[in-house]
Amino acid sequence: MTGNIRPETMERITTPALAQAFIDEQVHELRSQIGDSRVLLALSGGVDSAVVAALLIKAVGQQLVCVHVNHGLLRKGEPEQVIEVFRQKMNANLIYVDAVDRFLDKLSGVADPEQKRKIIGAEFIRVFEEEARKLDGIAFLGQGTIYPDILESDGVKAHHNVGGLPEDLQFRLVEPLKLLFKDEVRVVGKALGLPDSMVYRQPFPGPGLGVRCLGAITRDRLECVRESDAILREEFSKNGLEGKVWQYFTVVPDFRSVGVKDGKRTFAYPVILRAVNTTDAMTATVEDVPFSLLQHITERITSEVEGVNRVLFDLTPKPCATIEWE
Ligand code: XMP
Repeated sequence: MTGNIRPETMERITTPALAQAFIDEQVHELRSQIGDSRVLLALSGGVDSAVVAALLIKAVGQQLVCVHVNHGLLRKGEPEQVIEVFRQKMNANLIYVDAVDRFLDKLSGVADPEQKRKIIGAEFIRVFEEEARKLDGIAFLGQGTIYPDILESDGVKAHHNVGGLPEDLQFRLVEPLKLLFKDEVRVVGKALGLPDSMVYRQPFPGPGLGVRCLGAITRDRLECVRESDAILREEFSKNGLEGKVWQYFTVVPDFRSVGVKDGKRTFAYPVILRAVNTTDAMTATVEDVPFSLLQHITERITSEVEGVNRVLFDLTPKPCATIEWE
């Protein structure tokens, strides 16, 4: 696919047949573009990188090298799902990098949200660069750039783009989704056999749970965020809200409050629930979650998540709040 402007004549990919036609065309183009070279791809497990990976596996198989960096800020079960889907099911050449301690050490004591974002982005590039240096014959870098990225920014994925890769690692870009809108990427992902939980997953910020563990990240509060988020997602799924609510997650602030459990005083963290709907993320409304479900989630979180004694629900739309807390 050449050029960065979507031709007016390009048909919207809305059906499996149209997705298949797109896949066939891309496989052909990718093979002639890549030849015998190898392609490197940072595979986060998000929709865009997952679809690019699946497309490249179909086109060039083992010539694709995927790198999945676990920075410790992913949701419960995410690294495992990436390994299961790509290594086990799709037989991808996948390098898994456990960089949890490295990221958490770098973030230790850092409370400012923008500073946290910078550290996560820069460290991600560093880890990826180290892995790239270990490999031979890489000529291309796969990217999950989609059309809104081109329309809204300077054409590259902004999430991890802090500084970018050094000069000697400037590979040629492979961006097979760059003229597609998000809904089209999902249709293509489905046609490539990716699981629904990956194709239809809710938006998740690049800095991950790092901006939901408010202030300076500590391992105990990070686990509170991860475990409470898993409970919220499980309950939304069981109660038909998955796929209906645009984005939902939990936040853990860096203060504690007094509570009581089994007749004893506790001093533990609160968990804040957030569930919002939007079309463009510029404004958002709060989902009217049934009160009985909120009570059930509260009961589960306070009994199952260590170090939590209180649950709150964020009633604030955007504006005046943002969707994330940091
Ligand atoms: P806000 O909080 O600005 O969020 O209302 C709007 C949307 O953007 C996501 N978001 C981010 N995504 N890196 C990302 O990749 C970030 O640093 C970041 N901050 C917010 C947020 O989850 C929501 O979908």
